[in-house]
Amino acid sequence: MNEQIEQMKQEIILKMNNVKSSKELNDLRVEYLGKKGPIAELSAMMKTIPVAEKKQFGAALNSLKTEINTLFEQKRQEINLDELNEQLAAEKIDITLDSTMIPVGGKHPIQMVIDDVCDLFVSMGYDVVEGPEVEQDLYNFEKLNLPKGHPARDTQDSFYITEEMLLRTQTSPVQARTMEANQEKSPIRMICPGKTYRRDNDDATHSHQFTQIEGLVVDKNISMADLKGTLEILAKTMFGEDRVIRFRPSYFPFTEPSLEVDVSCFRCGGEGCSLCKQTGWIEILGSGMVHPNVLRNCGYDPEVYTGFAFGMGPERIAMLKYGINDIRHFYTNDMRFINDFNRKEGGNA
Ligand code: DAH
Repeated sequence: MNEQIEQMKQEIILKMNNVKSSKELNDLRVEYLGKKGPIAELSAMMKTIPVAEKKQFGAALNSLKTEINTLFEQKRQEINLDELNEQLAAEKIDITLDSTMIPVGGKHPIQMVIDDVCDLFVSMGYDVVEGPEVEQDLYNFEKLNLPKGHPARDTQDSFYITEEMLLRTQTSPVQARTMEANQEKSPIRMICPGKTYRRDNDDATHSHQFTQIEGLVVDKNISMADLKGTLEILAKTMFGEDRVIRFRPSYFPFTEPSLEVDVSCFRCGGEGCSLCKQTGWIEILGSGMVHPNVLRNCGYDPEVYTGFAFGMGPERIAMLKYGINDIRHFYTNDMRFINDFNRKEGGNA
C-alpha cells in the first residue's frame, strides 16, 4: 500500500515539473485531488483495509495529502511569479517614445482681455451683467441722451432692423437697462462685456462687428476722483504697475464732463516710440460722469445720485497688448494666427 502511495507521489511530482501555466496546474490538481481522483479512491479504500494496517495507511495517506498540497502551493507561487513577469514584460511602456500631440485649443485673445477686465472689477465688487444685442432705439440712443435727430447718432452708423429696433452700436444701453431695472434705485457697480455692431467697411482697424466692455457706478457722492482711481487700477492691471493715466476732454452725449483716457506707453515708458506715435501716451477708452439727463431718464434723481461710466474696446486693448496689427485676425479664424497666438501666450494648440 505504501508503495502505491509513494508511486503516486512520484507520478505527481513528475507531472508537476512539466506544468507551464496556472490552468495546467489547476487541471492537475483536479485530476489528483478531485472527488473522483486517485487520492479520493485511496481514501475510499480505508474501509476495506484490515484494522491492523488502518492506522499506518491513514497516516501515510494524510502525509501524502499534506505533501501534495504543499507542492501544489509552491508550484502555484512559482507560476504566478512567472506569469506576472511575463505580463510585465509584455506590457512594458517605452516612456522614451514620442507622444501624440493632442490639440486642446486656447482662449481667444478678446476673451482673454474680457476675462482679465471682468476679474479685476469683480474683485472690486462689481456685478457682471449682460444685455441684448438686438436692442431698442430707446435704450441704445434715447435714454442715453441721444434723441432722434441728434447729430451724434451719425458717429454710430447703425444696422436698423425696424425703425425702433437695431443691432446695438455700443454696450452703453446696458447702463440704461441696469439703472431702470433697479427698482430700489440703490447704488450700482456693474461691468458689461458684449458684442456690438456698426455699419463700417472692414479694414485693418475697422470691423462691422466688434466688442465693448462697459462700466457704470452710481451712488451718492461719486466724483471724478473715483473715476480716475478706478481707471488707474485698470490701466496698471492691463498694462503694468508703472503705468499712469491722463484725462483729455472729449464729448459723449451720455456723460458730462466726458473724458478720453490715455495710458502712458507701456513699450517706451512715456519717452516716445512708434507704438505711441512719439507722444508717450496711448488712448485706451472713453469715460465721464453720467449725464444728469441719463440718470433722470432711468429713474435716478441727479440731485441725490451721481455716477461715472466708461467704455472700452477689447480689440484695441488686445491689439496693443499682444502686438496684433490687423483687427480682422480676430474674426477670420486663420489657423496660422490662432496657433501662433496660442503658442506665444502659452496655450496648447
Ligand atoms: N459708448 C461709447 C462708444 O461706443 C464709449 C463710451 C464712452 C462709453 C464714454 C461710456 C462712456 O460709458 O462713459 O464710443
